[in-house]
Amino acid sequence: MEKSKSTPTRKFNFKFLARSVLLIPALLFLKSTIQVTSSGCIQPEPFNPANKSLDNNYQNLTTPTFTLPLFNRFSGAVQIPTVTYDEMIGDYQDPVLFAPFKDFRKYLQDNYPLVHQLEYHIINEYSLIYIWQGSDVSLKPIMLMAHMDVVPVDPATVSEWSHPPFSGFVDEKFIWGRGATDCKGTVIGIIEAVESLLKAGFTPKRTIIVSFGHDEEISGYHGQQHNVEYIFNRYGADGIEYVLDEGGSIVASDSFMNTSVIDSSKKESKHFAIIGIAEKGYLDVNITVNINKGGHASIAPPHTGIGILAEIIVALEDNPHQPELLASNPVLQTLQCINEHTNLLSTWQKFILHHWQWFKPLILHFAKKNPLTNIFFATTQAADVVKGGVKVNALPQTASIFINHRVAMHQSVDQVMDHIYQIVAPIAAKHSLSFLNQTGNAGSVVVGTEKIEPSPISPTGQSFEEIGSVVKRVFPNTIISPMLMTANTDTRWVWKLTRNIYRFTPAIIASDDGIHTVNERISKSNLVNIVKFYHELVRASTE
Ligand SMILES: *[C@@H]1O[C@H](CO)[C@@H](O)[C@H](O)[C@H]1NC(C)=O
Ligand SMILES: *[C@@H]1O[C@H](CO)[C@@H](O)[C@H](O)[C@H]1NC(C)=O
Ligand SMILES: *[C@@H]1O[C@H](CO)[C@@H](O)[C@H](O)[C@H]1NC(C)=O
Ligand SMILES: *[C@@H]1O[C@H](CO)[C@@H](O)[C@H](O)[C@H]1NC(C)=O
Ligand SMILES: *[C@@H]1O[C@H](CO)[C@@H](O)[C@H](O)[C@H]1NC(C)=O
Ligand SMILES: [Zn+2]
Repeated sequence: MEKSKSTPTRKFNFKFLARSVLLIPALLFLKSTIQVTSSGCIQPEPFNPANKSLDNNYQNLTTPTFTLPLFNRFSGAVQIPTVTYDEMIGDYQDPVLFAPFKDFRKYLQDNYPLVHQLEYHIINEYSLIYIWQGSDVSLKPIMLMAHMDVVPVDPATVSEWSHPPFSGFVDEKFIWGRGATDCKGTVIGIIEAVESLLKAGFTPKRTIIVSFGHDEEISGYHGQQHNVEYIFNRYGADGIEYVLDEGGSIVASDSFMNTSVIDSSKKESKHFAIIGIAEKGYLDVNITVNINKGGHASIAPPHTGIGILAEIIVALEDNPHQPELLASNPVLQTLQCINEHTNLLSTWQKFILHHWQWFKPLILHFAKKNPLTNIFFATTQAADVVKGGVKVNALPQTASIFINHRVAMHQSVDQVMDHIYQIVAPIAAKHSLSFLNQTGNAGSVVVGTEKIEPSPISPTGQSFEEIGSVVKRVFPNTIISPMLMTANTDTRWVWKLTRNIYRFTPAIIASDDGIHTVNERISKSNLVNIVKFYHELVRASTE
């Protein structure tokens, strides 16, 4: 998350805890302002396997015979410090920084012998793909994703950890360490499930592809990007049934609305499983002001490069991107689920919001006022890094700023860039600086970027329902709800493989799980549930 002390330089921070926790106050706020269309909050029936032959195997995943060794194996996985740092994007060959990834691979090979009898590939030295051939080759494979890398631990915070960050300490309830929740719980959960199914002699009908990247936390350029290339070359465009990666999670009602969420018909307490069906785009913009003349500060002009840069920043902040509410925005589906499965909305709210198109200006007016709701409707901009000046008595020749954007569903990266150009151009002209095709003799303004377009929106059709039905089997009394992710995952690479891209971590996440900050940990029950979830997901894909 942005506030994380441990990741000051990460570009893709704001991970899945934030995805859940930030959604929460937003929904709390939204529930008082909006209501939704009547498209319905589709609830699949809990998965109930027709072929019972694996039921015992499934039940046994909760017995100590299985769980005690599981906790030890998981602890061992957390102890391998597979940290990625930003500099590893450029310095891909550093043998010291990448050594833990070799250790991790060996650890998987040693502990999951049956999985390693499947076809598997080491991609780009450190990423992994396992292909478990299904019996029916006419069916498209499903692809289960996770990442093996973890974010760094800020050395200054090590003393704040209850147990050292790479100790993998196991206590009564938790297993502690960096990556326990993000994302080694999923890596180990998937591989444990497959190992267990292989041990039981199971063969899937549909091919199962497991794809582990090794650099998601620094954008996945060397890892999942290449895994996807391999899979694309083999299975082709739209060759995958669905992709499931980390993302939303299961949120306990109390932890998000501070109100009990009650099924009005049954008066039961509910959890919400929020599954990402889309994610906002991403855009980093570096704006650099270059001034031809430096010199001594005693001959200062009215505006230094830093002053001009400041003028640009102020102008951008005074002209934020406008919110929009499209019928396709997954937030409407999330709200529909809250509406149907809680008693949180008053009658008049239901009315306003049932007719949200009429009340859209009002809704956006309120949404805009709260940053926690604005993120679902507008492109956000945040000036995050500024550089300029070297000496107090010398005029700066260059000054630059990094602005991070999360691009709303209704916009493209180009539209956001156009907005920036329109703001910057007159300021550059005023100070005789060249900019784009505009000339000036005092210096220049240069804009550089890194970008991801907003993702396609995945349908809530059969694949979504299949995932939802397995959630309901493993986590009874859970409402399945689509959601919009405001952060990015390695799914940025998979758009060409399938329309059915889902982002969900099958665990009940609380606000103190320490993702990207101190005291990251996972509860033992969550770890077991992740294994159970993938076990059943593979079964479900076969029925
Ligand atoms: C499940 O556990 C029981 C008791 O430990 C054991 O007898 C049985 O063989 C196990 N079943 C499977 C499928 O592993
Ligand atoms: C049920 O599953 C078992 C184990 O995967 C398999 O051997 C058996 O053929 C299946 N039965 C049917 C009727 O499909
Ligand atoms: C949540 O509920 C607790 C206990 O009722 C209360 O003390 C707290 O202020 C509430 N928090 C919010 C954000 O409403
Ligand atoms: C912006 O880009 C320039 C040129 O690559 C670089 O020197 C500068 O450090 C960057 N600015 C920031 C704030 O990172
Ligand atoms: C400068 O570039 C902008 C954006 O590409 C374009 O709209 C405009 O017509 C150009 N102006 C000139 C004078 O070429
Ligand atoms: Zn992650």
